[in-house]
Amino acid sequence: MILVTGATGNVGRHVVEQLVEAGEQVRAMTRRPERAGLPDSVEVVRGDLAEPESLPAALRGTDRVFLFPMPGRLPGFLDAAKGFGLQRVVLLSASAVTYETPNPIGRMHEECEAAVTGSGLPWTILRPGAFMANDLHWAASIKATGVVHGLDDGAAGAPIDERDIAAVAVRALLDDGHAGEAYLLTGPEALTEPERVGIIGRVLGRDLRFQALSVEEARAGMLTRMPAEVVDSMLAMRAEAREMARVAPAARNLIGRAPYTYAEWATYHVNDFR
Ligand SMILES: NC(=O)c1ccc[n+]([C@@H]2O[C@H](COP(=O)([O-])OP(=O)(O)OC[C@H]3O[C@@H](n4cnc5c(N)ncnc54)[C@H](OP(=O)(O)O)[C@@H]3O)[C@@H](O)[C@H]2O)c1
Repeated sequence: MILVTGATGNVGRHVVEQLVEAGEQVRAMTRRPERAGLPDSVEVVRGDLAEPESLPAALRGTDRVFLFPMPGRLPGFLDAAKGFGLQRVVLLSASAVTYETPNPIGRMHEECEAAVTGSGLPWTILRPGAFMANDLHWAASIKATGVVHGLDDGAAGAPIDERDIAAVAVRALLDDGHAGEAYLLTGPEALTEPERVGIIGRVLGRDLRFQALSVEEARAGMLTRMPAEVVDSMLAMRAEAREMARVAPAARNLIGRAPYTYAEWATYHVNDFR
C-alpha cells in the first residue's frame, strides 16, 4: 500500500491517479476527505502533517510514501513512519535548492530534504522547477478581459507539467534503482511569460494580450497570492535566468517519453481558461 500525502495538491492528485492506473493500492491523505474529489477506488484518510496524532491511521499498513514537503513536520512524520515499517520515501522538493542565490524557498526545501536524507529510510528526491499550474492564476483575467499582466523582463523558465512530476514520482515509488537520487525536473522548453500567454491564446483560438508591469506593480499583484518572503524570493530568482531557463533531461529519461509541452498542458487545462 502506498501512502500519498498532499494527495489533493497539484502534483499529489496526479500521483494518486497514475498509481491507480498502474493497478496499485493507494491511500490518499488529506485534511478534508469530504472535499478531496479523488477516484472512488482510493482509500482516503484524514491526516495532517501538523497533527502527529492523525498520522498512525494514515501510515498503518503502508510501505511507501509520496511525501509533501512541510517544514518542521517531516522528522516527526518520518519517525512515526519507521515505526510502521515504511521502506521508501519519495519527497517533493524544488529546484530552488540548487540555485546560487540564497532564497527562502530553497532553504525551506533544504530543511525538508535534510529530514528525509537523515531519516535512515531509502529516499528519492524530486526537484522540479516552476509548475505550469502556476499560470492558472491568469485564468480569471483571460476569461474576463483577454489581457494578462506580468513581467516582460526577458526571463525565461522551463516550467514542467505536474503530470510529469507525478510520472517521475510513480517510477521512483514502483521501481528499484532510484534510492539516494535527487532528480532535477523541468519541462522541455524555456519560455517567457509573453510566449506562454501566446500559446494559451493559440490553444483557445483567442487573441490574448500581454501587458507588461513594472517590478513594483508585479510585486503588488503577487503579494495578493503569496507571502512577501516568497514573492521577493521569486523575484530574486528571476535574475537567475540561466538557472531557471535550463532544460534538464531527467524527466524524459525517467518517464521514457518527452515531457508535455506548454501547449499540451494548456490544451489539458483549456476549460480552466474558457
Ligand atoms: N508551484 C511551483 O512552481 C513549485 C515548484 C517547485 C516546488 N514546489 C513545491 O511544491 C509544493 C506544492 O506546491 P503547490 O503550490 O503546488 O501546492 P499544492 O500542491 O496545491 O499544495 C496543497 C497541498 O498541500 C497539502 N497540505 C497543506 N498543508 C498540509 C498539512 N498540514 N498536512 C498535510 N498536507 C497538507 C494539501 O492537502 P489538503 O488536502 O489537506 O488540503 C494539498 O494537497 C510546495 O512545497 C512548493 O514549494 C512548487
